[in-house]
Amino acid sequence: MAPITRIANLLLAAFIPALLGAGAATDSGPAPSFNRDIAPILYRNCSSCHRPGQVAPFALLTYKDAVKHAKQIATVTQSRYMPPWKAEPGFGQFKDERRLTDEEIATLRNWANNGAPEGDADNKRIPPKFVDGWQAGPPDRVVSMTDPVSLPAGGPDQFRCFVIPLGNESAQWVNKVEFHPGNRKVVHHAIIFLDATGEARRREKVPGQGYDCVGGPGLAISGGLGGWAPGATPTVLSEGLAITVAKSSDLVVQMHYHLSGKPETDQSSIGLSFTQDAPKKGMALVMAGNRRIDIAPGDDHFVVKASAELPMDAETLSIFPHAHYLCKDMKVDAHLPDGSVKPMIWIKDWDFNWQGAYRYETPLKLPKGTRIEMEYTFDNSANNSRNPSNPPTRVKFGEQTTNEMAFTFISVSLDDPADVPEFQRDMSAHFIADMIDGGSDDSGLDPKRVAQMKATFNFFDKNKNGKLDPEEKQALIEFLKKQNVRL
Ligand code: HEC
Repeated sequence: MAPITRIANLLLAAFIPALLGAGAATDSGPAPSFNRDIAPILYRNCSSCHRPGQVAPFALLTYKDAVKHAKQIATVTQSRYMPPWKAEPGFGQFKDERRLTDEEIATLRNWANNGAPEGDADNKRIPPKFVDGWQAGPPDRVVSMTDPVSLPAGGPDQFRCFVIPLGNESAQWVNKVEFHPGNRKVVHHAIIFLDATGEARRREKVPGQGYDCVGGPGLAISGGLGGWAPGATPTVLSEGLAITVAKSSDLVVQMHYHLSGKPETDQSSIGLSFTQDAPKKGMALVMAGNRRIDIAPGDDHFVVKASAELPMDAETLSIFPHAHYLCKDMKVDAHLPDGSVKPMIWIKDWDFNWQGAYRYETPLKLPKGTRIEMEYTFDNSANNSRNPSNPPTRVKFGEQTTNEMAFTFISVSLDDPADVPEFQRDMSAHFIADMIDGGSDDSGLDPKRVAQMKATFNFFDKNKNGKLDPEEKQALIEFLKKQNVRL
């Protein structure tokens, strides 16, 4: 740093507290100081992302870092914009919850309002040391994107799917997955899918270069290995659980890049650990969603509902709600056969940029016949600051950022691994039937898939009234089950 700017910074650091000092203390007790009160809060809740080389725009490690942002810290913690954590307390209890207490928020506010003092040097804490290696221990196998990908300095966010062939000669059981972003300045999030069909390889025209994919990998996925967003912890499955990776599978990694202002490259990797013991419990995916999305410009309260019924007893492991930019509010509840309702998640201020899987602290036990009900609300008005279209335009279901989606994926465990195929067959048949029954417009989707869905719809709409009556839908579900059509 040139001496002149260093001096300017020192002057600023000295003056900003004085300027902020205009506000009087609002709460009783001695004014909080950085060294004694603020540093522990920041180190515990903020510095993992707010440090050099990470996704956050500035570091929060030293007094000098923090004092420059004192007011802003008070504002973004008061509104709970930071630390990023979207799930409302009391609606599902999740692991690794990032949430400040009301007291911590008040302390940050009082500090800012009282001139943001540094405090007694005797109380000074040592900033935490972050391990940038494998958090869950050394993995058995590390795979990377085949080639580094070059990203431009600026432009809209990029969504690309990269194929990583595993070349495993037999099925394997994965019990730990850790995603390592190659370049944390640009990797905003990643979702890892499994493909045992070779379809993703066909889409990736130049091996290693990936293909555009916003909503999803655009293929019949064979499963998933979780995801990553800044601050995420590795997936470590509990004893007796494992994800089965079919022979010769490919990983399909959907990368969301947020460009940094400078040209960058990225080559992210994934650490996998395997278990030799056959899983004692099964893992399956509950899916709910529908394509009936058609939001008029200006409509600030468009509601999408969908449900899924459990064909067997299951216990929840994690929940992954998914929509694009217009979604505001997401609520998922489990309606048990005894009439009771268990809240599964509630996100009141959905932000596409902070999507991810929420892992349950204690699994919810859901008996056979439980109905999972989701209700998502979308705001397609100009008041929605996240609206990608200005002025707003009509928005329909599809995979582009300017289309919308409404899905809930819930990972569950089943007591007997032998039950998984039947569970998944039933779940997929219902889910695909809901997709086929999803209205006639399909902007943004692969035309071949749309034509297939339309033909299937027309075949099962026996009385040609343009909709699937309950018995017609049941016939479609039975057909899909028999064909063992998988998502
Ligand atoms: C999981 C990563 C993560 C954690 C944890 C985190 N931040 Fe951030 N923070 C970000 C990112 C990314 C941005 C920039 C993008 C944005 O504004 O959403 C940001 C932006 C900010 C901003 C600027 C907001 C603006 O309006 O420009 C402030 C202030 C901030 N964070 C304070 C905090 C504080 C205080 C904490 C801890 C209580 C915290 N952050 C925890 C990732 C994080």
